Amino acid sequence: MLDKIGLTHVSSVRIPIATKLILSFLLIIAIISVVFSVAGSQIIGNRVVAEAQERVRTDLNAAREIYLNKLGNVSNVVRYTANRILLKDALSSGDMEQATEELIKVAQREGLDVLTVTDRSGKVLLRTSNPGLLDDNEGQDELVRAVMERKDTVASTWIVPADELRKESPLLAEKAYFKFIKTPKARARVETEETAGMMLKAAAPILDDQNNLIGVIYGGVLLNRDFEIVDKIKQTVFQDVKYSGKDIGTATIFQDDVRISTNVKNEDGSRAIGTRVAEDVYNQVVTAGQPWIGRAYVVNDWYITAYEPIRNFNNKIIGILYVGVLEQRYVDIRTQTILVFLTIALAGVLVSIALSYFVSRRISGAIQELVSASQEIARGNLEARAVVKSRDELRDLADTFNAMALALKDRDEKLKEFTTKKIMESERLALIGQLAANVAHEINNPLQGIVTYSHLLLERMPGDSPSRASVQKIVTQADRCRTIIRGLLDFSRQRALHKSPSEVNAVLNECVSLVEDQALFHNIQIIKDLRPNLPFIVLDPAQIQQVFMNLIINAAEAMDGSGRLTLATRLDPAGKFIEVEFVDTGHGISQENLDKIFDPFFTTKEIRHGVGLGLAISYGIVKEHQGMLSVESVIGKGTTFIVRLPVMAEERA
Ligand SMILES: Nc1ncnc2c1ncn2[C@@H]1O[C@H](COP(=O)(O)OP(=O)(O)OP(=O)(O)O)[C@@H](O)[C@H]1O
Ligand SMILES: [Mg+2]
Repeated sequence: MLDKIGLTHVSSVRIPIATKLILSFLLIIAIISVVFSVAGSQIIGNRVVAEAQERVRTDLNAAREIYLNKLGNVSNVVRYTANRILLKDALSSGDMEQATEELIKVAQREGLDVLTVTDRSGKVLLRTSNPGLLDDNEGQDELVRAVMERKDTVASTWIVPADELRKESPLLAEKAYFKFIKTPKARARVETEETAGMMLKAAAPILDDQNNLIGVIYGGVLLNRDFEIVDKIKQTVFQDVKYSGKDIGTATIFQDDVRISTNVKNEDGSRAIGTRVAEDVYNQVVTAGQPWIGRAYVVNDWYITAYEPIRNFNNKIIGILYVGVLEQRYVDIRTQTILVFLTIALAGVLVSIALSYFVSRRISGAIQELVSASQEIARGNLEARAVVKSRDELRDLADTFNAMALALKDRDEKLKEFTTKKIMESERLALIGQLAANVAHEINNPLQGIVTYSHLLLERMPGDSPSRASVQKIVTQADRCRTIIRGLLDFSRQRALHKSPSEVNAVLNECVSLVEDQALFHNIQIIKDLRPNLPFIVLDPAQIQQVFMNLIINAAEAMDGSGRLTLATRLDPAGKFIEVEFVDTGHGISQENLDKIFDPFFTTKEIRHGVGLGLAISYGIVKEHQGMLSVESVIGKGTTFIVRLPVMAEERA
């Protein structure tokens, strides 16, 4: 496509600088803010989660301490009781009545669900939880047997089967019983209920004075539906803090995979006992025996959790201890962080849009200003100026532009002034020329009479007439007047050209033959160096001959009648002109006069010899032939005139 000033545009879609700037700003900001937000929130989010996990790991340690502390309590109570004289005496005497009374008080006071005494073979002698059931044998109980063998206290978390529980107390069996409750993600299991119970159980030897085993005492606390430990953990470790109505921290004791003691809540707010652990957690903690630290789905919500196995006396995994904090809180922190990041990024985008809009408006405004100023100038209004206020390269450009406009205007004015002057001058010259031509024409006829009659008068005058000298002067001056008037008439006459195809060499040869015999040329050697077979060119032979004659005579006069005149013709290298050269060995032309020789009436010759019209007329004739007349000269050495006549395409044909 071509626009008004002729520039070509390659691309067809025109995108303004402002748009380009805004778009690139936006792109940069968008990339930065996306990267910044994503990376930032990722880092902070991960940090927050890592922090939470670290915390939950420590919380699990605290929870374990609380749990073991409770087991230690049970163990202590059992051991102290084993050492009581009252009990030893009762065993030696076989009267258990008083001891039973006392131990029931101990069990109540210390919160033991079970406190049972056997003889050294394991036969039950005293059962605080079920005083009516005696004489059965507990010797097969692993803890009791261990005590018998080691004569030392043992304590452990212990799974107590349902019938054992029922022996201790039917109430306990009932307390331990769970029907499984379904929750999402819970581990699949064929069974639907749990009848055994999990107990913190300790057993101690009862020794006589000789350190002989006289019996075994064991006691325990059933963990099923006993929330003392988990609530103590929640209270001590998590300070009961709540987050949107829910406890932040939770703790659970699992019997195998069943929540038997927990403060994790169901939807209805009740404790989620009877629910079961998530499958993946179970596999890692119970099956593989590894602690679990991380996210886990607990009952009905996501928690950041820590689980570790609970082992029994034989190091068998029988349950899980769990602590966890609500993930929601950390998710919210992360969401808030992302929001803050996004807000900052959005603000950045807005600021950069505003900024780039402002900047680009300034730039494109300045450019627009320059464009309209240029258009004004192109329309010819040289007064147009670009006003750019910003202090930058655009201002420099505008200043330069304005300077250019000023210079243009200046030059334009000078040119106008010059042309006006020139026109006036040439009008004046034309007027004078016209006047001179008219005068010459009017004078020509009377002058002709004067010349004729003065010649006649001189002829008829006797040789000794005293007036002869005066008449002679009249004749000479009248002749001179006639020459001037003829020259003037020649110069001013706008004769129509009578053009015909001619041979330049022929015209030149004829000129030479005309002058050769004249006295002026007797001592002048004429050398001709004419290129043969030059193309014919269309010219007026009479007028061109006049030009050549003028130049030849000028040369002869410059050489004062002796010297060498070389005439040469040739085709210029481009084949567009025939060049005719006149080289003389005359006195040359001074630099000063070179500028004037083509002016009419400029002559350096004496009054009688020259009028100063020869070159002026020749110049006019050559011009009319679309040719050129040029001169080179060296004072004292000679002058070269060159006439260049065009070989037109049609004429060449
Ligand atoms: N070949 C030349 N060598 C040196 N001077 C020259 C030569 N041709 C012209 N001139 C100078 O140029 C002047 C002008 O020449 P031009 O032919 O116009 O006038 P003119 O010869 O003086 O008079 P006329 O009108 O009789 O020709 C001459 O007076 C002379 O000074
Ligand atoms: Mg002359």
